[in-house]
Amino acid sequence: MAPLVGLNLATDSTFVSAIKPLVSDGLVEALEWDIDSPWVVKRDDPELPQWITKLLDLYSSNGRLYGHCIWLSMLTPHRQQRQALWLERLARECSRRSYRLVSEHLGFMAAGPYVINTLLPVPYVEAAVATGRGLLERLAEATGTSVGLENLAGALAPADATSQAEFLESILGPQNGFLLLDIHNIFAQAANLEMDPYVLLEAFPCERVRIMHVSGGRWKDVAGKPYRFDGHNGAVPQEIYPLLHAALARCPNTELVTFERRVNSLDTESEITQMQADYRQLYEVVKSADQQKTASAAPLDSTPVVPFDAISTEQELADYEDALVDVLSMNAPPETLRAELLARPVVAAVQDYVASIRLRNLQATSLLLRRWARTEAEMDEAGLIPKTA
Ligand SMILES: [Fe+2]
Repeated sequence: MAPLVGLNLATDSTFVSAIKPLVSDGLVEALEWDIDSPWVVKRDDPELPQWITKLLDLYSSNGRLYGHCIWLSMLTPHRQQRQALWLERLARECSRRSYRLVSEHLGFMAAGPYVINTLLPVPYVEAAVATGRGLLERLAEATGTSVGLENLAGALAPADATSQAEFLESILGPQNGFLLLDIHNIFAQAANLEMDPYVLLEAFPCERVRIMHVSGGRWKDVAGKPYRFDGHNGAVPQEIYPLLHAALARCPNTELVTFERRVNSLDTESEITQMQADYRQLYEVVKSADQQKTASAAPLDSTPVVPFDAISTEQELADYEDALVDVLSMNAPPETLRAELLARPVVAAVQDYVASIRLRNLQATSLLLRRWARTEAEMDEAGLIPKTA
């Protein structure tokens, strides 16, 4: 049976009007809800509008509601009080509304002074796997359902893409977690590291995939060349559809393909028309996909850049993450950022990984961090409360 096709529900009124024709044509078969986004987004009324809760309850009662989370920071080693409270709140939400599956992301955002941030990669090392396994177990306890992780869009070094499949498998394996395969994330990583997306796709543990994401983003000039940003704020590139087709043929347990669009990102009539057309095309592609495998790509060279035990304790991992966000927060040329990072003693153990960081990726990631990173004090000042008590 073909997978369901659904939407990640953005809550702005433009988005809601835009999806009405898709809903009335019966094309929105499932909903994905960012469970923790209302916890960090300031609203005049802290309660969700009634139409949202009604819609969530409707899809939930039909077993068609999927939970997605963004702010837990799976690879932050020292569990913060904020994370414990976040898990308690998640448990309360999942006990009163049923979610078929719940997903989070590989990567981390909470480090140094920051609680909110762009998602960042760490090298594939023992302490990161242990941290991820621990939090995934807690996530499963809190939700009472199957939990999974999404592949990252960001990458600093080629190893962030080439080791990702094994990294995810190491964390998901013991919990028998599922993989949420984001097709645009593969596309963005491949573009920004000048790799073949089909080679990356083939390395993933496809039997674990139960959900796929499809979205758009934007190209922006970084160091004189287009760099792909996964902002969920642009048209779906045509290259995504054959990649999705190949992914569907390789992932027989996929039950849902979700279309993602960032809240408040539909500004013009033509963007609305484009979004509706993208969703309809996605629906067609998913429903007409056959299980015919496309030709195999060349195998991925996933030789590790640093030994697995290069970072083996939580403290070393925390120190590395603190150093990375500290350096990324500097407004300096990427050559300076990389040299600065290499000069930090805590980076010595993964020096080969840091030396392989691409300058353009470093520059783009620093831009993202300086745009999105917020300290707890800044969140409080803005009236946003990341401590989800
Ligand atoms: Fe995604």
